Amino acid sequence: MKYSFRAFLASQWDPVPLVKDDLSGRTVLVVGANTGLGLEAAKHFASMGPKHLILACRSLKKGEAAATAIKSATGFDGVVVRIVDLAVFSSVIAFAEAFEKEFGQLDIHVYNAATAVDLYDQTVDGWEST
Ligand SMILES: NC(=O)c1ccc[n+]([C@@H]2O[C@H](COP(=O)([O-])OP(=O)(O)OC[C@H]3O[C@@H](n4cnc5c(N)ncnc54)[C@H](OP(=O)(O)O)[C@@H]3O)[C@@H](O)[C@H]2O)c1
Repeated sequence: MKYSFRAFLASQWDPVPLVKDDLSGRTVLVVGANTGLGLEAAKHFASMGPKHLILACRSLKKGEAAATAIKSATGFDGVVVRIVDLAVFSSVIAFAEAFEKEFGQLDIHVYNAATAVDLYDQTVDGWEST
């Protein structure tokens, strides 16, 4: 569908078309799930009843608060929080290895986490942080 600029702007206030399916038996991983789009995506996945819904966050406290919010919004009780900091390669490797051992399979992955900084900054591995 081709939008005029005006119709495109107006469409930003339309409800987002949400797909629903049965996710029983599925393992879903949302990275950066404690706030914003990641949290809303995680709530939506929770409403479809996956076997596992893993919130990968860099703060345990924020991740657990998100798990509580998801449970109260959807009633889904199978949320687990695991720690990963994408700005630290050793954390990503440790997360991936532990994930494989614990869950064995990954069906849906939302690679959502990101940051945009105003000033040049380096990660501990020496990469530009954005
Ligand atoms: N919102 C928009 O209009 C928009 C537009 C274009 C693209 N996007 C992209 O969509 C994604 C989500 O946007 P949003 O607005 O929901 O962002 P947001 O509210 O800032 O949330 C970003 C999430 O990523 C996590 N995160 C950041 N750096 C991390 C790291 N090093 N390791 C692990 N987690 C990390 C944050 O954790 P903390 O809470 O611990 O910081 C937070 O959970 C981002 O990739 C963004 O670039 C958004």
